[in-house]
Amino acid sequence: MNIGIIGSGGREHAICHMLSKSKKVSKIFCFPGNAGTNLIAENVNLNPDNFSELEKHCIDKEIKLIVVGPEKPLVNGIVDHFKGKSIKVFGPDKISSKLEGSKIFTKEICQKNNIPTSRFKICKSLDETIDYLKSVRYPLVIKADGLASGKGVYICNDFDEAKTASEEIFNGKFGSAHQILVEEFLDGEEMSYFIVTDGKNYRFFGSAQDHKRVGEGDVGKNTGGMGCYSPSRLLSDELEFKIRKKIIEPTLGAINRAGGVYKGFLYVGLMVKNNDPFLIEFNVRMGDPECQTILPTLKTDLLDILISCCDGTLNEIKINFFNTKSICIVLCSKGYPEKFENNIEIKNLEQLKLLENQSIFHAGTLKKKNEIISNGGRVLNFVSVSEDFLQCREEAIDLIKRLNWKNGYFRKDIGHKVIKT
Ligand code: AMP
Ligand code: GLY
Repeated sequence: MNIGIIGSGGREHAICHMLSKSKKVSKIFCFPGNAGTNLIAENVNLNPDNFSELEKHCIDKEIKLIVVGPEKPLVNGIVDHFKGKSIKVFGPDKISSKLEGSKIFTKEICQKNNIPTSRFKICKSLDETIDYLKSVRYPLVIKADGLASGKGVYICNDFDEAKTASEEIFNGKFGSAHQILVEEFLDGEEMSYFIVTDGKNYRFFGSAQDHKRVGEGDVGKNTGGMGCYSPSRLLSDELEFKIRKKIIEPTLGAINRAGGVYKGFLYVGLMVKNNDPFLIEFNVRMGDPECQTILPTLKTDLLDILISCCDGTLNEIKINFFNTKSICIVLCSKGYPEKFENNIEIKNLEQLKLLENQSIFHAGTLKKKNEIISNGGRVLNFVSVSEDFLQCREEAIDLIKRLNWKNGYFRKDIGHKVIKT
């Protein structure tokens, strides 16, 4: 079977790598992919937001399944575009994708279904927001409603910070805004919990904790993710039971009643306090770098999982993972998440010999003539799977050191909560 994968990051290279191991996969096309996917698939430079053009290409190349990595095409309705056509698309439809596309939609589902989350208020104008902000306790959290590439969330310590955040949002920093979300600040420890669902049944798809801040010790600016470890240290049977009964099942029920069909991965972003889960956010896709961290521990053929979700037969298969630990360390361009340079050659990549438990997934890379060059803030993902988190981290760092890329920066403390040295 020929497959198409939408996206160009580490997540998509990891998906491409896992699918390339399936005997049932003939050829993979990546829209647009990166220098890593280019080694195992054909990169196609077309705009995946142009669904008609994508469809034409898929018909031409006999692509029978499209796997959508990032949220944007899902929120824009790619699944609805292909509905009733002969090409399967793995991902939730437009209604279901509002779980990520609109934070207010999700909060309203939480409110109606008693789903544990932070208390919140939706304000419909800047004046109303500012009045409200005068009457509340700090810190609090202010969020833009729609997609904001991870940037529309402000943790505010006082009224002045909250006022500035609200002004930025209402002035259109993240697109035109008619409402805003003001949330109580939750303290606790974060955890990401993943499931995969066919719209009727769902299955566990790993847990993880990512490190979003640029600096060691989790300080400094927010990034797309500097690394990740899996499984989360917080996961227990009792906590998992609460996550399923109090958060996932009521949400999938509400989506069904709203007329949505949720087939795909669901990323449940949680704050855990005293062993109780509170929903921070949903993402309608796998996480990045969580995907790169979790997928190498998957035993079951990924293609079988994706197809059974599209066909509504997830109850007929078992999903098995190796009982191991995994760490992913992201190698970034120096300067990221602020100013950084692109087009810097990465030598030595092909010479690096990987053990069976190790992977390198490309993110911001491009092939130019015979060189691989950097093309983004987060450039490469180094993953190691083993019985022990410390060993995972040491192996990943050893690979990065052997690569010795002069423009690279990485955090040496990924997984510090589970590694006591
Ligand atoms: P989001 O884009 O909603 O995931 O928010 C980005 C990050 O902001 C989360 O990963 C949390 O670290 C933090 N955050 C969001 N909402 C809250 C909240 N209500 N309380 C505390 N931290 C939050
Ligand atoms: N790792 C955070 C995300 O994928 O949104």
